Amino acid sequence: MTRETASAKIEPEFSLSNYEVRDEDLPEFRDMKFEKINQLELDHPGASDEAYRVRRDHIASLAKNFRETHVITDVEYTDEEQKVWQIVATRLEELQAKRASEFYLDAKSKLGISTERIPQLSEMNKRLGELSNFRLAPIEGLVETRAFLSWLSYRTMLCTQYIRHPSRPEYTPEPDIVHEAIGHIPNFTNRDFADFSQFIGHGARIATDQQLEELGRLYWFTVEYGLVEENGELKAYGAGLLSSFGELENAFTDNVQRRPFDLEQVINTTYDYSDMQPVLYVIPSYNYLKETTRKYIENFDKMK
Ligand SMILES: [Fe+2]
Repeated sequence: MTRETASAKIEPEFSLSNYEVRDEDLPEFRDMKFEKINQLELDHPGASDEAYRVRRDHIASLAKNFRETHVITDVEYTDEEQKVWQIVATRLEELQAKRASEFYLDAKSKLGISTERIPQLSEMNKRLGELSNFRLAPIEGLVETRAFLSWLSYRTMLCTQYIRHPSRPEYTPEPDIVHEAIGHIPNFTNRDFADFSQFIGHGARIATDQQLEELGRLYWFTVEYGLVEENGELKAYGAGLLSSFGELENAFTDNVQRRPFDLEQVINTTYDYSDMQPVLYVIPSYNYLKETTRKYIENFDKMK
């Protein structure tokens, strides 16, 4: 998610509970001014691989075109890229069979996400539209927190399309199509989760800087690292867990304190994104998360 540059000005008058956002309601994507978000950091495994950088830039340019055309361009992934996907997706699927939430596993198959090939944002976007009126918009890099979260208020998630470097299939320091498609996208087929995401987005548009920081923590401990109790068992639904071998395994060991979700506690708990997570929060249901967040965000409105 997040980081420097980029500010998309988004008009704030949009009701909290308008779940039927139409295309006509969306701000113009071409008004999104993102600058220098396509940088590859020096610690990226592909940083010194010129061919990888050129390829990543190409895929990023397709995403950038979206802002003018409003059409998601499919990426013709190379055999090498497909191979990276197959390796990661297969290994994650094995781990997820035991650890991922039932809902998530079902959603993955509804979206047609398989271990065979990299799914296109266009096809997942179409299915999401039918299932929960949620949308995907390609983006070429990391967007700063407020702008990124604000788009969720339009039931839209900004997603990268390029894939991690083949030298480290298990690792990426930035979001890539594995993190987006395997981690994030299936959850948006859940109406409660989609509505909750919309609330986070609404909150981000009106939050003070302090509230934005709190929202960032809520996002981190739910969307990225959340656990849910399902039929008496703890399961993972957070994208950071579901798209990482190490985190998914670690989440269920004694290294981690698994606490019942408590909003006050969550928004006041700091985290370190560069290390394994020592504390995780368990929600009793997606609906609980949605309704708790609604009350929290409604308070933002009152404080304006
Ligand atoms: Fe993420």
